[in-house]
Amino acid sequence: MNFDTIIRKTEKLSEGIYLIRLHSARIASKAVPGQFVNVRCSDGLNAYLRRPISICRVDRKNNTVDIVFMNRGKGTNLLCSFAQGDTLDAMGPLGNGFTLPKEKERIAVVGGGIGVFPLLYLLEESHCACKTAFLGFRTKEAIVLQDAFHRTAQKLVIATDDGSYGTNGLITAPFMAWLEAERPDRVYSCGPAPMMKIVARACVQKGIFCEVSMEQRMGCGIGACLVCACKVQDGDDYQYAHVCKDGPVFPAERLIF
Ligand SMILES: Cc1cc2nc3c(=O)[nH]c(=O)nc-3n(C[C@H](O)[C@H](O)[C@H](O)COP(=O)(O)OP(=O)(O)OC[C@H]3O[C@@H](n4cnc5c(N)ncnc54)[C@H](O)[C@@H]3O)c2cc1C
Ligand code: FES
Repeated sequence: MNFDTIIRKTEKLSEGIYLIRLHSARIASKAVPGQFVNVRCSDGLNAYLRRPISICRVDRKNNTVDIVFMNRGKGTNLLCSFAQGDTLDAMGPLGNGFTLPKEKERIAVVGGGIGVFPLLYLLEESHCACKTAFLGFRTKEAIVLQDAFHRTAQKLVIATDDGSYGTNGLITAPFMAWLEAERPDRVYSCGPAPMMKIVARACVQKGIFCEVSMEQRMGCGIGACLVCACKVQDGDDYQYAHVCKDGPVFPAERLIF
């Protein structure tokens, strides 16, 4: 099967963070927020396995799909060298997606680092009463897509680990304070596991609907190789789920962090 897409645009958003806009009617017509594409970063044996990258934005009119990634290692480093007009082999859309809110609902998203990208797509596709975004980054320089989040959320709270912008410290602190005063209908989270654990636990305790999107190393991306297993609740016991096929989005109460 052919998964080739044409790159319409590439952009460096900040140090080490890159956007690639793909032209693909196949992905644009089927994708839902929370899904990802599994990208082949080179033709040869170098970075042989595909790398999973979340869908960050879809323009159905123009059949384009944006992915944003951090240059982290071999695969993503190769991805940085792709240019407009190149062909990129992107399998997808893969995985499940977030449960979209209803019109009258109030939602919050809590994202950290590279976990913010799928949350932008979720906010843009959520046509509900009130949207609040809590985003955590390491430093001011690491903040990306701030204007896009501003446009789609009624309220945007940013925290940086070093206090160089917004609230000083982890994003979970302003989120938890907000959660004491507000009762959103749904909360969605994606980012580092310790952050999602705090968000998930607080929502489960308060009986608030919460979904989290897991990041896990992957092989095949389609449920065949078992590389991406994560522990989930099964009654009083536990079992393993595949992040690529059963996820990456899971109900907060199901995951064992
Ligand atoms: C469903 C899903 C969606 C993702 N969406 C995005 C996204 O939108 N933007 C983005 O920048 N990244 C995203 N990632 C993470 C991305 O897949 C990894 O950063 C990438 O595979 C690293 O490949 P590499 O060859 O550059 O790095 P490697 O050389 O393979 O590894 C570099 C470092 O990254 C760590 N790492 C590698 N793969 C993963 C992984 N899958 N999860 C956690 N840590 C990893 C390694 O432990 C190592 O420390 C997503 C991962 C998943 C599972
Ligand atoms: S990556 Fe192969 S089963 Fe999930």
